[in-house]
Amino acid sequence: MRVAAVVPAAGRGDRFGGSGPKALVPLRGRPLVEYAVAALCAATAVEAIVIAAPADAVDPIADVARRAAGAKLAAVVPGGPDRQASVALALAALPDGPEIVLVHDGARPLVPVPLIAAVAAAAADDGAATAALPVDETVKRGEDGWVRATVDRVGLFRVQTPQAFHRTLLETAHREAERAGFRGTDDAALVERLGRPVRLVPGAPANLKITVPADLVLAETLLRRDEPVSFAPRVGIGFDAHRLVPGRPLRLGGVTIPFARGLEGHSDADVIAHAVMDALLGAAGCGDIGRLFPPGDPAYRGADSMRLLSQVRALLAERGWRAAHIDVVVMAESPRLAPHAEAMRAAMAQALGTDPTRLSIKATTLEGMGAIGREEGIAAQAVASLEPVSERRDGAR
Ligand code: CTP
Ligand code: MG
Repeated sequence: MRVAAVVPAAGRGDRFGGSGPKALVPLRGRPLVEYAVAALCAATAVEAIVIAAPADAVDPIADVARRAAGAKLAAVVPGGPDRQASVALALAALPDGPEIVLVHDGARPLVPVPLIAAVAAAAADDGAATAALPVDETVKRGEDGWVRATVDRVGLFRVQTPQAFHRTLLETAHREAERAGFRGTDDAALVERLGRPVRLVPGAPANLKITVPADLVLAETLLRRDEPVSFAPRVGIGFDAHRLVPGRPLRLGGVTIPFARGLEGHSDADVIAHAVMDALLGAAGCGDIGRLFPPGDPAYRGADSMRLLSQVRALLAERGWRAAHIDVVVMAESPRLAPHAEAMRAAMAQALGTDPTRLSIKATTLEGMGAIGREEGIAAQAVASLEPVSERRDGAR
């Protein structure tokens, strides 16, 4: 059995909305159509793939398809004004050889690979087949906001793709439909009107069609379900030191600590917060605080480092990360910091929108050694690990 696949992906996605073609809408960072093409490529029976793309997006879709299908990609052609026309144009570009043609919507990203094989096999045996699911909810006919009738759902099916056909049958069906001016919303309908039988193959509930934006959210959730928990650790390190000077409040870990001197700096010079921010930014690969909050920028003169920490948290969240755990060592000869550790954990946890149990703060003296030992300044070192936003289920944000 030699199988080629046709992917109609030339729709504008009117119901989806958005500026570009629906086929290029990102799903977990990848263009929508890439999923369907990759699934078809993974089906060993499929030897060639032809895609119908919007006329103004043939090149970008060809790039995506090459990446997903490699040598199995046979052509990317401009589609037509409706789905039927797009399939017909793609059919015309199929290479010689395959005698089974499988049609699968570019807008169905979660098609299980075994379903592709099952539909192709059914078509090879019986001429035509479609994936479909029995309607399992009550169905009513309605009009202008009123129920008109309850439709007996027994024997009703929701039809999906893939659909597959003997190639000659599908080509004839398209030609005949064109001649009669018949427009169908799927390919099986064109075969049915020739009086030819179409097999029903049990479809997959996850094989949804992305039609409106809510479908994309659903697909994202379904994709996450299959994702292995990532153990690739993201860890960052941060260090900061400031000079102790008279006439400044001593701010450490978001807490003002009674002391004769404070740390000198452009912002509030909170070395603990700064070390933590650098550790977080480092783990996320987002540079450092010097780049984010330039020391010369008047906006950050005397800035409350807890506010900056919240900004770092927001930046991380944009990238899909949040702090998993943070450990800090403060190096200070005096004052004694241990009594303030709990208050610092609470303040920083609040700025990070996390739980204080995810923060640890320890203090040490340097036994009189070096500049810090001579009480000229205070330094802090931090390590932070990150976790993807989706993996936290403990309620902390
Ligand atoms: N399709 C196509 N050519 C068209 C219209 C649709 O190839 N002229 C494709 C779509 O790209 C999609 C599949 O047919 O992969 C199913 O169509 P649908 O989900 O309706 O997508 P759109 O037509 O793009 O969406 P809408 O109807 O909301 O505009
Ligand atoms: Mg449409």
